[in-house]
Amino acid sequence: MSNNSFDRVAEEYDATRPIPRGASEEITDTILRVTGATQATEFLEVGVGTGRIGAPIVERGHRFTGVDISRKMMNEMLRKLPGERPNLTLVEADATALPFADASFDVALTVHLLHLVARWHDALAEIRRVLREGGVFLYGYEEHSADEALREVYTQWDTILAGRGVQTGPSGGNLQDVLAELKHQGARLETVIAAKWRAEITVGELMDLYERRVYSRFWRLPDDVFSDAVADLKEWSARRYPSEGFALSGESVFVLTVARHWASV
Ligand SMILES: C[S@@+](CC[C@H](N)C(=O)[O-])C[C@H]1O[C@@H](n2cnc3c(N)ncnc32)[C@H](O)[C@@H]1O
Repeated sequence: MSNNSFDRVAEEYDATRPIPRGASEEITDTILRVTGATQATEFLEVGVGTGRIGAPIVERGHRFTGVDISRKMMNEMLRKLPGERPNLTLVEADATALPFADASFDVALTVHLLHLVARWHDALAEIRRVLREGGVFLYGYEEHSADEALREVYTQWDTILAGRGVQTGPSGGNLQDVLAELKHQGARLETVIAAKWRAEITVGELMDLYERRVYSRFWRLPDDVFSDAVADLKEWSARRYPSEGFALSGESVFVLTVARHWASV
């Protein structure tokens, strides 16, 4: 299994990045609006995962192709979309070698993908290749601004890792690098806030997510470093918070960067 394949977390992935139903509808509405989608529009999502973003587009009847290196993630998407879905195609493939002809799609979308892909320049080149002239690339991501009590957990985790000499960071292209590259390649970028919501998690639930190593940024850490770091974090949190049921909160924002005038030029 590739190091970045989400096979290992397919069944619990959605619980690690929940989007409330209303926000999900707003995200779908925004995607359809900014792309001016019609029933003829051909969508491609690279790194489609469990279809957190893609499934609602399929449900609205749009022609949608999803690509992922994790068959198990895509199987979760299929579970959400029972019955015949002639408008949906799922393909197991790598973002850096898309198995499609040039100029096949009107809209390409990635959400939380390119920071995972070491050869993200190649992935971008592939996306550009398969977009039709005048096609739109949507670069989507969620931004979380944690309230103070939750932020302290993140800071503590970084401190624990730094104390063990571990540096964390994306294994692929970070937001600034990807947007700079798109601009450099002539794209005109527009940033749209598609949805905002408040999210809450208890200390116990959060510690459980750490312990089960669900977030991909944990996978690159050596096993022994990871388990010692989690033990330290749990010890710290037991001292810091009054109980496991203590609620931590923050705001999530779903951002879409719309790249135009980039495809097939
Ligand atoms: C963080 S998940 C995002 C899934 C979905 N876009 C979402 O926002 O819920 C990243 C997905 O990209 C897939 N992935 C990672 N590297 C990939 C690559 N090189 N090519 C295609 N998919 C990849 C993973 O298997 C996983 O399903």
